[in-house]
Amino acid sequence: MRVTMIGTGYVGLVSGACFADFGHTVTCVDKDAGKIARLQKGDIPIFEPGLDELVKDNVEQGRLFFTTDPTAAIRDADAIFIAVGTPSRRGDGHADLSYVYAAAEEIAGLVSGYTVIVTKSTVPVGTGDEVEAIIKKTNPSADFAVVSNPEFLREGAAINDFKRPDRVVVGTDDERAREVMRSLYRPLFLNETPIVFTERRTSELIKYAANGFLAMKITFINEIADLCEAVGANVQEVAKGIGLDNRIGRKFLNAGPGYGGSCFPKDTLALMKTARDSNAPIELIEATVRVNSARKQKMAQKIIEAVGGSVAGKTIAILGLTFKPNTDDMRDAPALDIVPTLQAEGAKVRAFDPEGMAEAKHMLKDVAFATGPYDCVQNADAVVIITEWDQFRALDLDRMKDALKTPIVIDLRNIYRPEEMRAKGFNYVSVGRP
Ligand code: UDX
Repeated sequence: MRVTMIGTGYVGLVSGACFADFGHTVTCVDKDAGKIARLQKGDIPIFEPGLDELVKDNVEQGRLFFTTDPTAAIRDADAIFIAVGTPSRRGDGHADLSYVYAAAEEIAGLVSGYTVIVTKSTVPVGTGDEVEAIIKKTNPSADFAVVSNPEFLREGAAINDFKRPDRVVVGTDDERAREVMRSLYRPLFLNETPIVFTERRTSELIKYAANGFLAMKITFINEIADLCEAVGANVQEVAKGIGLDNRIGRKFLNAGPGYGGSCFPKDTLALMKTARDSNAPIELIEATVRVNSARKQKMAQKIIEAVGGSVAGKTIAILGLTFKPNTDDMRDAPALDIVPTLQAEGAKVRAFDPEGMAEAKHMLKDVAFATGPYDCVQNADAVVIITEWDQFRALDLDRMKDALKTPIVIDLRNIYRPEEMRAKGFNYVSVGRP
């Protein structure tokens, strides 16, 4: 099939490269000429494991193209994916759909022949109807269908999540469009991936409901962790004990400093806004947003208590800045709340992150960036692990203890075991464990 991907961000680039790897001919369109030029040279602007080889292979095999000119790409396409950003409008939390609508207008003027237009971006319920209306108004003679096909890609695992999804969700009532979507995802069909065909609004809501539930599940275990600290229980054992119930499931039960990233914060806000606007408020999601946001401040207080009640004049080493490992993405990362709070209390902050420092430099001020974990902890009064990068999982503890001015470790991801750390002579604090 001939596929056009509008937008070359995390979702558009991964989806385009994976569709090409399925054997389709894919043209990725972006307005950013600099970005397109870099992509054409095989220079990938985001850190996503495996994406550079995937793009290079498919460009070399003549299945993947990049352009700033949408004309031919839209005219010749069997399916056009809208994968542009839908950022949170700061202030009211609604999703900003201006890029989606602009793409719809552009498509309307250029389509020829029956074309399926797919909203891949996460869009509020009813956006597909809006896109359909825009195209009809702009080009009354266009022969098309608008389909919802949300993505469930985790950053750092996006290629795997695209190629081996738990399910594909397709929202449309149009039989011809269903046939096109079956052909697009045929390679997944072959290994029995369930394709859930439903109507468009339901499909749009599935995405929000999924992310809202996952955000709530994380926030639940984070609150259980706080209770564990109060009653002397172990949250990792609680997570194991409940997770083996297959109605609960073991994933997304790792207590930590709170969720971040480009999706959960944005999607929970949009979901609660849509719900409120529809007079069907989802108070569980409202509570999730509130509790998660407060948690990041709580983590800063936990650090302050762990160093004796004040960080004034102390040097705090931070290991990990990104919102999760295996990404360079700093959006809504807990570090963006924790670090300024410590600095406001008089701490000097030194930080190291394998991939996130280039972006963090623009988002944090007065932070000294280290060249590695041991350089980071050198002469620090305490070290805080905020992101569970693999390279922080087996640090040389003796070397770290010698480098620290005082052997205080605050492990916000429960990477280490309390008994092991205490045996090594550390004053060790973690999340939800005695
Ligand atoms: C998420 C959804 O998982 C994905 O399906 C959707 O398409 C996009 O949003 P992503 O935001 O990339 O993906 O990362 P994810 O791995 O879900 O983690 C989200 C946040 O939750 C991170 O801040 C992570 O640290 C946190 N998290 C995750 C926990 O604190 N505990 C967990 O057990 C899992």
